[in-house]
Amino acid sequence: MYNISQRRYLGNKNSILPFIDEIIKAEVGKFDSFCDIFSGTGVVGEYFNEKDTKIISNDLLYNNFVSLNAFLSPESFDEVKLLNIIDEFNHIKTNKENYFSKNFGDRYFSKNVAKKIGYIREKIKTLFVLHHINQHEKNILITSLLYSVDRIANTVGHYDAYIKKEIKSQNLEMKMLNISTEKNTNNEIHNKDANLLIRDIECDVLYLDPPYNSRQYCDAYHLLENLALWNKPKVFGVAKKFDRTKLKSDYSKINAPKSFDDLIQNAKCNYILLSYNNMGNKGNIRSNAKISDKDIINSLEKRGEIKVFEKKYKEFNAGNAKVGDNKERVFFVKVQK
Ligand SMILES: C[S@@+](CC[C@H](N)C(=O)[O-])C[C@H]1O[C@@H](n2cnc3c(N)ncnc32)[C@H](O)[C@@H]1O
Repeated sequence: MYNISQRRYLGNKNSILPFIDEIIKAEVGKFDSFCDIFSGTGVVGEYFNEKDTKIISNDLLYNNFVSLNAFLSPESFDEVKLLNIIDEFNHIKTNKENYFSKNFGDRYFSKNVAKKIGYIREKIKTLFVLHHINQHEKNILITSLLYSVDRIANTVGHYDAYIKKEIKSQNLEMKMLNISTEKNTNNEIHNKDANLLIRDIECDVLYLDPPYNSRQYCDAYHLLENLALWNKPKVFGVAKKFDRTKLKSDYSKINAPKSFDDLIQNAKCNYILLSYNNMGNKGNIRSNAKISDKDIINSLEKRGEIKVFEKKYKEFNAGNAKVGDNKERVFFVKVQK
């Protein structure tokens, strides 16, 4: 079985969940609803997912929306049926070229494995169109495929490039997901720009983990996004990316401070927690933080008194310049009414 945390993801907060928990226990206590508005993998929302708690998850990228639905949606699914389909998929042999193998075979995967991935994705689409699986079952199968693909991809963990050397033999093995359906009753999942969603929701605790540098997540995960969407667009360049113009995040651009302020001022919640690291201008240009501490404080202090919590961590920077003394920071505000 796959757990929600078994995926490589830039900036994922898996290792600091106990740290976030400590802050919430000390500063918030009990709460009814938790919104993880830049969910990514969804590990933070999932950590606080309980039967009586409402978790609102959201991400701009569709592949994350699919996985968030798979793990956190209250919809029902037939586990035995899915286990049979997964077993069938794991035994598939195909020699036929398809969209996926033509574009990504002999690059991110061996040709044979790429043929299998494309075949399985098409088969999931057909099963859904023929009503053999419902929307939630489709999301679970796509997520299992995404997690399996990610484990064997010939990359350093993201898809900005593939490793240019001979591809080792790989085995694509899909697995069922570890889903706690009994805890999901009240949950909601969205696929919107956080600045739009914030206007439509209310919650007790708002957790913010926006991208903090100019690296766009749609660039790093274009291949998984392409596989999840399965619209088979034209792809370009060595990395075989599709046109991602509509998926670019303001939080990785120059206007990040303005978007951040808009988000904070429109939040209807009792507590705000913001994760933002302390890279400042210490790394290379692409790793420089887009929102300065001054801007963060200016925006947050309009909503209440700020507390800052810090924890040292090891940076995942895909082999780039090492920058010591990294601290994961959480800014906390109890919102003044
Ligand atoms: C630092 S990551 C979150 C990691 C997450 N906390 C985890 O543990 O996996 C930031 C996420 O924000 C998403 N994102 C970027 N801009 C967004 C926007 N304007 N609205 C919603 N999500 C956005 C990205 O796709 C990415 O998944």
